[in-house]
Amino acid sequence: MNYLIGIDLGTSGTKTVLFDENGHVHGSETIEYPLYQEQNGWGEQEPDDWWHAACDSIRSVIAQSKINPSDIKGLGISGQMHGLVMLDKDGKVLRRSILWLDQRTAKECEEITAKVGAKRLIEITANPALTGFTASKILWVRNHQPEIYEKCAHILLPKDYVRYKLTGEFATEVSDASGMQLLDVPKRKWSDEVLEKLDIDKSLLGKVYESQEITGLVSARAAAETGLKAGTPVVGGAGDNAAAAVGTGVVRDGLAFTTIGSSGVVFAHSSGIKIDPKGRVHTFCCAVPGAWHVMGVHQAAGLSLRWLRDNVCAEEVAEAEKRGIDPYDVMSEKADKITPGSDRLIYLPYLNGERTPHLDPNCRGVFFGLSGIHKRAHLIRAVMEGVSYSLRDSISILREMDIETSEMTATGGGGRSFVWRQMLADNYHCPVKTIDNKEGPALGVAILAGVGVGLFSSVPEACDSLIHDKSVQEPIRANSDVYDKYYPLYQKLYTDLKDSFNELATL
Ligand code: XUL
Repeated sequence: MNYLIGIDLGTSGTKTVLFDENGHVHGSETIEYPLYQEQNGWGEQEPDDWWHAACDSIRSVIAQSKINPSDIKGLGISGQMHGLVMLDKDGKVLRRSILWLDQRTAKECEEITAKVGAKRLIEITANPALTGFTASKILWVRNHQPEIYEKCAHILLPKDYVRYKLTGEFATEVSDASGMQLLDVPKRKWSDEVLEKLDIDKSLLGKVYESQEITGLVSARAAAETGLKAGTPVVGGAGDNAAAAVGTGVVRDGLAFTTIGSSGVVFAHSSGIKIDPKGRVHTFCCAVPGAWHVMGVHQAAGLSLRWLRDNVCAEEVAEAEKRGIDPYDVMSEKADKITPGSDRLIYLPYLNGERTPHLDPNCRGVFFGLSGIHKRAHLIRAVMEGVSYSLRDSISILREMDIETSEMTATGGGGRSFVWRQMLADNYHCPVKTIDNKEGPALGVAILAGVGVGLFSSVPEACDSLIHDKSVQEPIRANSDVYDKYYPLYQKLYTDLKDSFNELATL
């Protein structure tokens, strides 16, 4: 039997899964690491925490499966996108990575827009200058920590740092590189024009591959650290959303998915390039050669519920421990007992600013309408509903762009909740399904590895044989009617508070 490994380098932790060529799981391990938030709106991680998590989880899945490492035919890595990793000429990490959720770079975004031109930037990179993206983080280090920038010899994305540690190669692939704001997204190669205008030396960047291409082989040194066989091929892999698309089978026009992970994403496949001229949703290369995807991103989807769990829901956490289940399952049960609309409590999920649709680093979370009648269960339901309204913002834009999203799959930790999926179906006015494989991004990059080493003939062919529907939830008319009334008020709250958010940011 042939085996494949998928590594999913997330924000909460790294999950490594060992699959056989039929997509069955033979070992799975997740290792968490800290998120450093030293200032309001900042978010950093230690690249070597990712590497150690990758090594330990690879060792663990090989041990669980008891297979011979020489039967592992290939490995793919999926990663949280946009994070900036800077290395010196000897490949040593120069500073903590500044992550996708970090919002410190509003000034640098203005600098990028002024230097490249707003219209030209969207034509080339398919997106306006965004605080979440890598280019503005590079400029921030150059502006604020010039002594570090001077020593920088290599710039990598999070998963590409793990690739470097595994293979010694400085490389990336089109889907993740699309989120750096340095790639010519229509042409799928680095943009000389943007690099020149921003005065960033192209030699700092890795070679760009398509997602299923082999980018290097596991080195003897990495083999000793991970238990893999030296020479195991490592393919390009993909940014976490492009990887989730493959792992969910969203690889053809008309198919879409919603992820509720740390961030929230509404993703639609597109065989032609479609760009929102207002820049409210991202257009990136997808992991299927010659295709793109359009997606809306929400900064704090699962992160909002995690915040509530960690700061407010000690009782649910304790109950979950007693019953031997996940605290989020207890929280979902409680939310289910409250009626849609949470008795007039509305949550705005802007803990880390917001991308779609506001592109606003200064907005922050809000509970609106708190009353003496509200209990913790209301807060839980309101958070889940607020995140669902934010995802509905993305659906509205994709529909406005004539992008088909009616075949919708829910994924990510939040997508496992029946209650949350129902909120999505009710808000989207379309059925929401799940698939029989919950490994998402890890399966996606394992499939890419299988295509890269020749076990499968193409990404869509592999998806057809490995991924099947599991459940489907239809919208409930009465709930949709309630949400249709709350949603306009949810939208209005941001408009009403915009100036106050800006004022708050100056305090
Ligand atoms: C996508 C994005 C997030 C991160 C973290 O643009 O910023 O989805 O990849 O998951």
